[in-house]
Amino acid sequence: MRILVTGRDGQVARAIAASSLASHELIFAGRPDFDLGDPASIEMTIARTDPDLVISAAAYTAVDKAEDDIACAELVNAEAPGVVARAATQAGAPVIHLSTDYVFDGRGERAWREDDPVAPIGVYGRTKAAGEEAVRRAAPDAHAIVRTAWVYSPWGTNFVKTMLRLAGNGHDVVRVVADQIGCPTSAHCIAGGLDAVVRHWQAEGPGRTSGTYHLAGTGHTSWAGFATAIFSASTAAGGPSAGVEPIPSSAYPTRAVRPANSRLDCAKFRSTFGYETAPWPKALQKVVDELLGTGG
Ligand SMILES: NC(=O)c1ccc[n+]([C@@H]2O[C@H](COP(=O)([O-])OP(=O)(O)OC[C@H]3O[C@@H](n4cnc5c(N)ncnc54)[C@H](OP(=O)(O)O)[C@@H]3O)[C@@H](O)[C@H]2O)c1
Repeated sequence: MRILVTGRDGQVARAIAASSLASHELIFAGRPDFDLGDPASIEMTIARTDPDLVISAAAYTAVDKAEDDIACAELVNAEAPGVVARAATQAGAPVIHLSTDYVFDGRGERAWREDDPVAPIGVYGRTKAAGEEAVRRAAPDAHAIVRTAWVYSPWGTNFVKTMLRLAGNGHDVVRVVADQIGCPTSAHCIAGGLDAVVRHWQAEGPGRTSGTYHLAGTGHTSWAGFATAIFSASTAAGGPSAGVEPIPSSAYPTRAVRPANSRLDCAKFRSTFGYETAPWPKALQKVVDELLGTGG
């Protein structure tokens, strides 16, 4: 199968390249030739590569910057996904489109389900929610919108790398927000889940399972709990560690407000595609080991 993956240098795309999906013919698209701000480059890339399936993993992911760069975030996150899905449909290819927990407002205690109403509280979440709608419209019977959360990996910029860098630079204590709860998700687990979708669609086609899904690490914690687990995993691997001082969000103001409860209920993904992510501390240890060069 020929699979076009957008967001070539992003965390999810890099994890796909390192996963069992690599048994397929993978084509990675990225800037400058493939630019979500330039619809012609999207159409040209899809027409030229003639994929059997498209994984749409490119996005404007700078949550704080998006608050002041609204036009660009809208173009990339809200409009471009529809262009991708339309061009994919013309090529006869179903689309797996990555989306986010930030489409929810974060109220309440329970994990969000796919049919809960979206109510984003920032530009990033609002533009991603609009992008979801664009994909549903352009490929009504041939899409999976896969919402994930709190992504980390050995690549790019993410919370795990930031914590290890701070500890490595000699910080004894880091102050971390304790009143935002979510599901830390290894990009490796996302790639595993996407592979399960591809296998399912290869067998049955996308028609019956076209829809919206949640795919995130199993279990949940706060950012402070995540930081504590990162330092435990690092200590276990002989790496740097630091203490964690839990603080409220009000003590760490950011340009974009984040949802307090970002937990995603992944039961629908599990029952549809037969894939469950690892418990988040276990998946974390694997990535920390990779980062510290002690894995495998
Ligand atoms: N990171 C998270 O915590 C998180 C949480 C929930 C959902 N998600 C979703 O998961 C997906 C993958 O996230 P990720 O963590 O892999 O993202 P990432 O590491 O930030 O990578 C994003 C990729 O998108 C590309 N991109 C940005 N603007 C582009 C444009 N105008 N044209 C073409 N490519 C562009 C970037 O290319 P450049 O290298 O050229 O900048 C980069 O390769 C996204 O849909 C994101 O919304 C992420």
